[in-house]
Amino acid sequence: MAHLLGQLINENPQIKTLIDNLVTEVGKVNQQIKGIQGQSPEHKERSQKMMDQIAVLRGRPLHYPYIGSGAGRGPFVELEDGSIKLDLINGIGIHLFGHSHPKVIAAALRGALSDVIMQGNLEPNREYIEFSEKLARWAGEKSRLKHVWFSTCGTMANETALKIARQKNSPARFVIGFKNAFAGRSTMMAEVTDNPAYRVGLPEYNEVLRISFYDKRNPRSAENTLNELKEHVAKHENNICCFVFEPMLGEGGYQPAPREFFVPLLEFCKSKKIALWADEVQTFTRTGELFAFETLDLGQYLDLVTIAKTAQVGATFYTEEYNPKPGLIAGTFSGTTVAMRAGMEMLDILKNENYLGPQGRIQKIHRRFVDGLNRLNETSCKGKVQDAGGMGLMIAFTPFEGKKEQVDAFLKKLFVNGVIAFPCGKDPLRARFLVPAIIQDQDIDLALEIIEKTIIEGV
Ligand SMILES: Cc1ncc(COP(=O)(O)O)c(C=O)c1O
Repeated sequence: MAHLLGQLINENPQIKTLIDNLVTEVGKVNQQIKGIQGQSPEHKERSQKMMDQIAVLRGRPLHYPYIGSGAGRGPFVELEDGSIKLDLINGIGIHLFGHSHPKVIAAALRGALSDVIMQGNLEPNREYIEFSEKLARWAGEKSRLKHVWFSTCGTMANETALKIARQKNSPARFVIGFKNAFAGRSTMMAEVTDNPAYRVGLPEYNEVLRISFYDKRNPRSAENTLNELKEHVAKHENNICCFVFEPMLGEGGYQPAPREFFVPLLEFCKSKKIALWADEVQTFTRTGELFAFETLDLGQYLDLVTIAKTAQVGATFYTEEYNPKPGLIAGTFSGTTVAMRAGMEMLDILKNENYLGPQGRIQKIHRRFVDGLNRLNETSCKGKVQDAGGMGLMIAFTPFEGKKEQVDAFLKKLFVNGVIAFPCGKDPLRARFLVPAIIQDQDIDLALEIIEKTIIEGV
């Protein structure tokens, strides 16, 4: 019967018609969203009450006055206060195709008809197998990665990767990581994350050895970092289990590094049998290829890769050699059926609809957005939209001089003016955008207009 139910969901014409009708009806509502608009007075009070309630329940207020109403269209989202915003952060990279994509909603509805909501590692359904097969096949095309293990978020995917690296290279305990890295907020990932503000009051475990990320202003950057790495290895030989790196620092500031920066680091680690692990929780699906390790052509080196966000689940990839012993990795939850269906759908759209590759839509979005920011810096916003760049859909610039008070105030005003972005980096602090792949050129131009207006208004 289970097999029949699977067929019913995917092939039964009546169910297909019902799902299509639902998507059409939802689409009609969402089509009313035309563009940015301000708060509506009739919703303001109720929305403020909800915000106050959240602040009491969580013990702290929201970062932005954002409570989604559940309606949205592409890059636009409607909030409970009646306003419509251009959402260029997308839950920090969860909604690759923006809000209410009809194919993603249809996939989610198919997932919702399954017998279970949450799938687990003990009793997976067909979505678990289909999704694992796709991910493992795509990851394996340009790397030695062979296996994939689901978990609930990026932090858990990273915990799984670290345990695998430690078990394989036991008893080595040290981790090499980049300065300004972000890896999540579990006890250990807060340690790998290089931000003392995220672990105030926690004990120091001192298990992470830091090296500097690429600095394009310093011609000796690559050489210096390799030397830092060699020093750590000389001091802790045979006690380093892995080198974890984001292919471009996310929280750390969206400054890309060339392949030539990574290769000597990876080769040196390889020669010392240190596991190589790319944390692609943020870069996955965004750099113009499915994985940033493809964009940078680093797949051959990797033993472990972690993803989450766009995938809608966390996942850890590992090679045959790093397949852990039974008992090391498990967990009740491995993701909801809805999340797996929606995640698969997004990746299928990405693979099949001309988004990837040097001429794909992602690179076109990047160029239009970054060129536009550079133009502002040279013209109306002279010197106040500095250093625009990033990779693919991950774009950042430094507003004003990048001082914390300036950037925080700028981002809050930008929100009021209709564009949602978020900070990254430190000294300078930058404004970052996780642009949805669905964005149209006119919406990029609209974002640029609002950025320009907000910079000119000043902070
Ligand atoms: C590079 C990186 N690693 C790990 C994480 C943690 O992922 P999650 O918040 O899903 O636990 C993030 C989240 O932003 C991230 O950007």
